[in-house]
Amino acid sequence: MLVIFSIIFFTNAAPQGAAVAKQNKVRQTLAVFQQVEDFTLAQHCPPSFELTEQGVCRLLTQYQFYSSVQNKGLGGTQTNLPPHRDGFTPAQIDLGRFLFFDPALSKDGSISCASCHQPDKGFSDDLDRSIGITGEKIARSAPSLWNVAFVDKFFWDARSTSLEEQALGPLYDPLEMGNNPSQLLETLRTNEYYVAMFKQAFPEEEKIELAQIYTSLTAFQTSLISLNSRYDRYAHGYHKALTEEEIAGLNVFRSFVARCAECHQPPLFTNNEVAVIGAPEPEGRKLDIGAEKTYNAPKLRGGFKVPTLRNIVKSAPYMHSGRYDNLRDAVKFYNDGRGNSIPEGETMLIHWHISEPNLTDDELDLIVTFLGTLTDASLTPRIPTKVPSGLPVVDKKYQQRISENQSSTLVKQSTQLKPNNEKIITHSGE
Ligand code: HEC
Ligand code: HEC
Repeated sequence: MLVIFSIIFFTNAAPQGAAVAKQNKVRQTLAVFQQVEDFTLAQHCPPSFELTEQGVCRLLTQYQFYSSVQNKGLGGTQTNLPPHRDGFTPAQIDLGRFLFFDPALSKDGSISCASCHQPDKGFSDDLDRSIGITGEKIARSAPSLWNVAFVDKFFWDARSTSLEEQALGPLYDPLEMGNNPSQLLETLRTNEYYVAMFKQAFPEEEKIELAQIYTSLTAFQTSLISLNSRYDRYAHGYHKALTEEEIAGLNVFRSFVARCAECHQPPLFTNNEVAVIGAPEPEGRKLDIGAEKTYNAPKLRGGFKVPTLRNIVKSAPYMHSGRYDNLRDAVKFYNDGRGNSIPEGETMLIHWHISEPNLTDDELDLIVTFLGTLTDASLTPRIPTKVPSGLPVVDKKYQQRISENQSSTLVKQSTQLKPNNEKIITHSGE
C-alpha cells in the first residue's frame, strides 16, 4: 500500500497547494488503512489445526488414530472421538474471536459472550446462575465451551442442535445480551473495522449478514480444543503422566460400581446424551423440567445434557443450577442415593446408570483428585487487547477484575500486551 501511494504522490506534478491537499488526503487514507490493519485477521490456523489445500483448518489429534468407542469396555482410554465441526478458514475463526470478546454484540454494549464464558474460568463464569444485561440472574449456569466442536446438542436442555442456531439464544434473549438482529447488523455494518474484517473472512459476500456473524462465532468456538491434559498423556500410553493416586481415582471413576464413565465417557467425558439424574435445585427454586420441554417427553422430566468434565476444576459452581459450589459436593451427590433430591410429590425416571455406589470418603476424594487431571487450557485463544468497537474487551467489570488482581496469569498476559494502541497480535499459535 505504502509503495503505491508514494508513487502516486511523488509522480504528481500539480501546483503546490493542490499537492499539499493531495498529500494530506493520502496521509488520511493511509491512516485509515493502518488502523484497519490493526485488526487484520490471522492467515494461519490455530495450534492443533492444519491448513488444508482448500484453505480451511482441519483438527489433528492423536485420538483420531484410534478405532471407535465400541468394544473398548467402560471408560476405555484409547477410543476415537465422535464426529466434530471444523473446516473454517483462519480468518473466520479469528473474526469469531473478536466478536466473542466484543461487548458491541449486546444491546447496550455492556457484556460480551466472554462475560459469561471467560477463558480463565473454563469458558464459564463463577456464578451459580449467569447475569445478563439487566443485572438479574438468568435461569441456569453457564456451561463450559471447551470441546463444543464435538457436541451436537446445545444448552442444558439440548434445545438447540447447532452452534449457529445456539448463538441466537444469548444474542437476542432479553435477559442475556438483549440485542435484536437489525441493531446487531447496524452496529457491525457501521464499524469500518468490522466491514473490512468481514470482507476478509467472507470475500464472496457483498455486505455483512447475520449468517456470517453466526458462522464466525461457530468457527471460533470450534477451535476451543482441550485434549492435552495429563490424563490425555496417560491415555496415549505415558503411564507416568498420572500419580498412583490419580490412576486409582480414574479406576473408581470408570468402575462398574461408580459408573461415572457410562455417561461421562472418555475422551470427551460426555456421551453427548441427555440423562435424568435428579440433581437438586437451589433452596427455594422450583423444579427445572429441563429436556422434558425440549422433547415434549414426560420421561425426560428433569433431564439435562451430560456435561463434559474437561477443565472441570475451573468451572465451579456445578450442575445446571449451579447448586454445588465445589467439586467434592457435586461428586458426593451421586453417593447420597438414587433420587436423593427429588422434590416431594414429583416423579422422575432416574437413569438406570445412577446407582447406589456406596463409595467410601476416600474413594470420593480419589475421584475428585482424578478430575483434576482433566485440566488443559494450553490452546486458550489469545484475548484481544482491543476490539473493533473500542469498548472494554470482555466488559468493564472484567477489566476491573484483571487490573485489581495483578497476580493472576491473565493480568501478566494483558500487561505484556499493553499499551492499548499496540498492533493486535492475532491468534496465540502464531
Ligand atoms: C449472560 C451470560 C451469557 C452470555 C452473555 C452468553 N452466554 Fe452462552 N450460555 C450461558 C448460559 C447460562 C448457558 C446455558 C443456558 C441453558 O442451558 O439454558 C449458555 C450456553 C451456551 C452454549 C451451549 C453450550 C453447551 O454445551 O450446551 C454455547 C455454545 C454458548 N452459550 C455460547 C455463547 C456465545 C457464542 C455467546 C455470545 C454470542 C454467549 N454464549 C453469550 C450464558 C451466557
Ligand atoms: C446417567 C448419566 C450420568 C452418570 C452415571 C454420572 N453423571 Fe455426572 N452428570 C450427568 C448429568 C446429566 C449432569 C448434569 C445434571 C444437571 O445439571 O442437573 C452431570 C453433572 C456432573 C457434574 C457437574 C458438571 C458441571 O459442569 O456442572 C459432575 C462433576 C459430575 N456429573 C460427575 C460425575 C461423577 C463423578 C459420576 C460418577 C460418580 C457421575 N457424574 C455419573 C450424568 C451422569
